[in-house]
Amino acid sequence: MTATEATSIESPAEILSGWIRDAFRGCFPDADTDFTDIAVVDTANPEFGDYQCNAAMGLAKVLRQAPRAIAETVAKAPDQPDCLDRLEVAGPGFLNLYLDSDWLARHVERMAADAQLGVPQVGAGKTVVMDYGSPNMTKPLHIGHLRSHNIGSVLDRMHRFLGYSVIADNHLGDWGTQFGITIMGYRHFGDEQAMQTSPLEELERVYVLSYEKTRQDEEWLEQCRRELVKLQSGDEENLELWEMFMRLSLEELDRMYARLGVHYDIVHGESYYRDKLAGTVERLEQAGLAVESEGATVVMLEEEKLPVCIVRKSDGGFNYATSDLATVAARVEEFNPDRIIYVTDERQQLHFKQIFAICRRLEYTVGLDHIWFGLMRLPEATFSTREGNVIKLEALLAEAESRALEIIAASSPDMPEAERRTVASVVGVGAVKYADLSQNPQSLVTFTWDKALALDGNSGPYLQYAYARIASVRGKYAERFPEGTPEDEPLRLEEAIERTLALQLIRFRDVVARAAHQYKPNVLTDYLYDLAQTYSSFYQNVPFLKAPEGIRESRVRLCTIVATVLKQGLDLLGLKTLERI
Ligand code: ARG
Repeated sequence: MTATEATSIESPAEILSGWIRDAFRGCFPDADTDFTDIAVVDTANPEFGDYQCNAAMGLAKVLRQAPRAIAETVAKAPDQPDCLDRLEVAGPGFLNLYLDSDWLARHVERMAADAQLGVPQVGAGKTVVMDYGSPNMTKPLHIGHLRSHNIGSVLDRMHRFLGYSVIADNHLGDWGTQFGITIMGYRHFGDEQAMQTSPLEELERVYVLSYEKTRQDEEWLEQCRRELVKLQSGDEENLELWEMFMRLSLEELDRMYARLGVHYDIVHGESYYRDKLAGTVERLEQAGLAVESEGATVVMLEEEKLPVCIVRKSDGGFNYATSDLATVAARVEEFNPDRIIYVTDERQQLHFKQIFAICRRLEYTVGLDHIWFGLMRLPEATFSTREGNVIKLEALLAEAESRALEIIAASSPDMPEAERRTVASVVGVGAVKYADLSQNPQSLVTFTWDKALALDGNSGPYLQYAYARIASVRGKYAERFPEGTPEDEPLRLEEAIERTLALQLIRFRDVVARAAHQYKPNVLTDYLYDLAQTYSSFYQNVPFLKAPEGIRESRVRLCTIVATVLKQGLDLLGLKTLERI
């Protein structure tokens, strides 16, 4: 099946919205509106139907009728779709719509048979560049680096799943002022051996030594500046050092990325655009946007009520803004994307407002979005690059794994040691990622181990365990009924809880689209957590293996579909699943 064919499953919300729009048009042919905005919405409470339409309330004025009368007219409209069992008029004029259970069961089967689980390819034919992670070299990743890599890679996977063609770019800070200091530090204090074994730590060590010296030693500071100018103007010796720093650091970074499950299509750091900076400023000057001010070249952004943006400093050097403007131009030229999405912490909001404002003035048509997130803090302290006392990401993951190992040792004492370690790594890393993703990105995340590793709350381990428990139900069924083929039996939605579960399953498609388009991974985590909870009340309240033949198969099949959706959802979140924990 090709990706586009996979989009053909129309959701009940789409079918019902289409019918209701037509019903309004048929009932009120002379109305002064075309009813295009009418749609049904999901309801959270089955008392209000499976879907609800509240359009009658807003149309009372235009139609000169009481909302309740409008709703009653529409409720009698002809050609009701097959999926609709019945509809009721409620309260002041709500239309509550109920799906036909048989139709719903067939719909869940169609969804389960689809490789995309019914998620439409709304991004087909569209290209987005995603700029996330993008750490400043050459320091080890610390806990403050988690969110951009984590949130960015989830949005990346979601966009790909929706059919977008995504170019994930790690826009490394690899051309900044830190290199003058690092070069001096390495020349005077560098240890070649350490450089081979743990380059990021070694570079950080010599950076700190050199940086401290700049504060006491004027001549040292000057020399650092000269080394940077030499590097940026192509001095061979310094370029060679820079290349070695980059090569060794990237290898180490890649090891972290493998552990985090982060993958990039391209790693064009800032240095990639270094020859385009002068041209970028010229272009702004030619467009009449850049002007001289106190020896510097700036773009005035008064109209946008933003501070001036300096694009060339008075010493002739270019800055972060120039580099990002050059980057937009290059990306547009190379990939012609529909959208460029940046994921950074909240401190860069002004920077991107300025960049986007200048791009609008340059009449770029590419969509530009900055997704910013609040800092992640442990209860005792906030972590920021500029403060000392930072916790390395590697240490955080190692601690997560060792804590997970303890939990697993207690819950599965019979598991062989090697398997325990694999499980601990899957659960530990998943717990850290999920603790971040389950928050609104724009909120400040207070990270605690208890919450991240909780087996009974909205956590990664809870969902991973839920998945493994479902797998074990299927295992038990296979043991008891080795000849059974639940996948060939029709789904039957007899109990209310089965219906609730089915309704939740078919909403997966909208959840993924909403999470991606609103840039909120927590929309998906909330959904998966709800689904796992509904599943667990399903599992506790209806018999499985003891149910009569046919119903038993239907229930096992429903289990499998829940497992598939959980697995797909966790996969989008970058969490692995295991059949056994
Ligand atoms: N290197 C920057 C930092 O660590 C983030 C870069 C974000 N991307 C961009 N195109 N400016 O703060």
